[in-house]
This record gives sequence, C-alpha cells and structure tokens, in this order.
Amino acid sequence: MADIKGIKTEDPDFFQRAKDLSSKYDVPLIGPEFPDIHINLDNPSVLHFNGMKLVNSFKKGKFYSRITKFQNEALLKKAFALQSAKPKKILDATGGLGHDAFILALLGQKITVVEKNIGLCILLEEALNELPNYSYFDDAVNNITIKNSDSRKFLDSAQAYDVIYVDPMFNSNKRLKRTKQMEFMDKYLAEYDNPSDDFFKSDFRRLVIKKELRAPASIKDSSAISFNGSSIRYDVYTREKK
Ligand SMILES: C[S@@+](CC[C@H](N)C(=O)[O-])C[C@H]1O[C@@H](n2cnc3c(N)ncnc32)[C@H](O)[C@@H]1O
Repeated sequence: MADIKGIKTEDPDFFQRAKDLSSKYDVPLIGPEFPDIHINLDNPSVLHFNGMKLVNSFKKGKFYSRITKFQNEALLKKAFALQSAKPKKILDATGGLGHDAFILALLGQKITVVEKNIGLCILLEEALNELPNYSYFDDAVNNITIKNSDSRKFLDSAQAYDVIYVDPMFNSNKRLKRTKQMEFMDKYLAEYDNPSDDFFKSDFRRLVIKKELRAPASIKDSSAISFNGSSIRYDVYTREKK
C-alpha cells in the first residue's frame, strides 16, 4: 500500500491546518521540491500519486447528490437497523473516503471511522473541514471520530459497538461501474485487505459487510440476512443478546 510522504499547501489560509495535520499524522511539511505521493491542502485538497489525482469533495459531484438525498438511504437504514431514535455506536472498520460513514453520521449515528491509510484519513478530515457552516453538517461532523489504524486493533472492543461495518475493496470489475475514484484507489492501495473474517470471529453484536450484488458471501452463517440493492448488497450477521 502506498501512502503520502508529505503535506504541502500554497494557500496561507491552510498553513495552520497543514502544520496541525503534519504533527497529528507525523508526515513532514514539504515545499516545492515534493515527493511524488503527497497531499496539497486547498479547497478542495488533492492527493497526488504517480501523476494521478484524488479529490474527496462533499460539496459537489456524485457524492454530493447522495448527501442531498441521505434520508432516502433505505438499504443502509435496514442493514444497520436504524429504526430506533437512539443513535447507534458504529465502528467503520474500512473507512476509505468516509462516504458511507458521513451518510450514517447525517442519519444521527455515532461513528468511529478507522482507516489505515494516512492520505485517505487526511482527505476525509479536509472534506469535513470544508463543509459549509450548517448546523446539520456540524452535527454530522461531531458524530464522526477518525482513527488512523488497522481496524484489527479494535477486535477486542467489538462488543462496545452496536454495529461493525466492513466495506472491503471490490476485487471484481464485472458488474460495478468503475469510477475514477475507484481506479485511483485500486492503484494507490494496490494490495487487497479485508478484515471481515477477523471481525466475524470477534465478539460483535451486528456485523454488516458490503458486497457486490452477485459476489458470493464471504462468510456462511445461519444468522445471515442480505439486503439487496441494484448493484451492491449488505450481508448482515447478528449476535444481539435477546
Ligand atoms: C472500499 S474502501 C471503503 C469505502 C468507504 N466505505 C466509503 O464509503 O468511502 C476500503 C478501505 O478500507 C481500508 N482498509 C482495508 N483494510 C483495513 C483495515 N484492516 N484497517 C483499516 N482500514 C482498512 C482501505 O485502506 C480502503 O481505504
């Protein structure tokens, strides 16, 4: 897996954030002579890797349109059992760009996003930081905690979460239309990691695994229920105490 070697910015408004992120993630601040893999803090921030660019904007594009319709996420609501007014405590064990996590946060859930790639953690931090000042965005941002780690470090605390969520990289390109973001992620992350099996062995209460619609289930278990969408599905395993 590649990761960023530096943080840079040319915009004085971002100098302090660049310093803070550099010290939080232990990544050097860099000047014009920068390594190939770096983040340029800006509005929007850009992750550079081998001549390719990744932007994670929550203010425009496909994800913005998903944000505007967050109340329509019927499949996600069913998979995470979000019927009750009481917010659920969720561990997102494969944070990525934080899209699913942000929708869950807009839906009022408390979510810990664990992502092992520093560049992706910073892109998510910046996407949240660049949101307009509306109270519903502020509430959603306050519902999210970002941790840069291998989520397997949370296996022993699985019982502390109402739901554990795993969205591993899809390794088939047959049915799901590849977006530019997905292609970047394939090349940037390169190796395929999937902590699903490890979480299945943990003391979880509810485990939700995102799959391609037609992909075989990674885990066979009698408690499994699947919620199917048009191109993806959620396989849900429960060990909730009666
Ligand atoms: C398909 S992406 C997740 C996309 C995310 N659900 C979203 O909505 O943006 C998978 C991510 O999981 C991360 N990942 C895979 N295994 C992990 C692990 N054991 N711990 C933390 N992050 C992991 C990868 O680095 C990658 O960024």
